[in-house]
Amino acid sequence: MAALPDELRLEGDGVILRDWRDEDAPALASVCGEWDVCAFTSLPWTYSEREALAWIERQRGKRAAGAVLALAIQAPDDERALGNVNLAGLSDGCREATIGYWLVPEARGRGLATAAASLLIDWGLQTLGLERIEFAILPENLASQRVAERVGATLEGIRKGSHQAEGRWWDMTIWSVRR
Ligand SMILES: CC(C)(COP(=O)(O)OP(=O)(O)OC[C@H]1O[C@@H](n2cnc3c(N)ncnc32)[C@H](O)[C@@H]1OP(=O)(O)O)[C@@H](O)C(=O)NCCC(=O)NCCS
Repeated sequence: MAALPDELRLEGDGVILRDWRDEDAPALASVCGEWDVCAFTSLPWTYSEREALAWIERQRGKRAAGAVLALAIQAPDDERALGNVNLAGLSDGCREATIGYWLVPEARGRGLATAAASLLIDWGLQTLGLERIEFAILPENLASQRVAERVGATLEGIRKGSHQAEGRWWDMTIWSVRR
């Protein structure tokens, strides 16, 4: 796998993916506390600017370590961060990754997650040289499964009790895109 770049900006159909900036911290406020986001990411359940800045700083550290590439999702006409899309589980010898995404509530329902995931998947396969990108999605999260479907992922099955959150183990639907 190719090394992760220090800086990255990708432009696609109606979406821009760019590095997280300290001034994006307030954008995290509306998703901190959302179950679908916080149970599946390292975002704090309660928003504070200090914790939001620490989350952004952690993303930089994980990129420097070659483990996670997290990018802010932006609309072309708007500098604000509207969400996050990431490739995680990366390592030097490994040609696989998992993809994750979330949007602030007001940015949902207009195709942004599909455009963002599609752009990062193309980059991951073509530039990073990944062979397989996996989605792990709760069975009841139909919007996220629809995103997976729309970017061309194949449903592989259900991994039973594979995600621990809030004191129990959850089944996950597993989808993948292959080169
Ligand atoms: C999942 C999420 C990223 C989708 O973002 P989005 O930009 O609204 O997604 P898109 O607009 O690209 O596509 C959503 C698709 O799901 C469909 N959808 C939305 N809500 C739905 C629901 N409750 N049931 C069924 N389908 C739904 C939409 O109709 C659309 O499909 P269509 O284009 O065929 O009409 C967003 O809802 C979110 O941030 N959720 C909270 C975090 C989360 O669940 N992340 C994924 C964890 S695996």
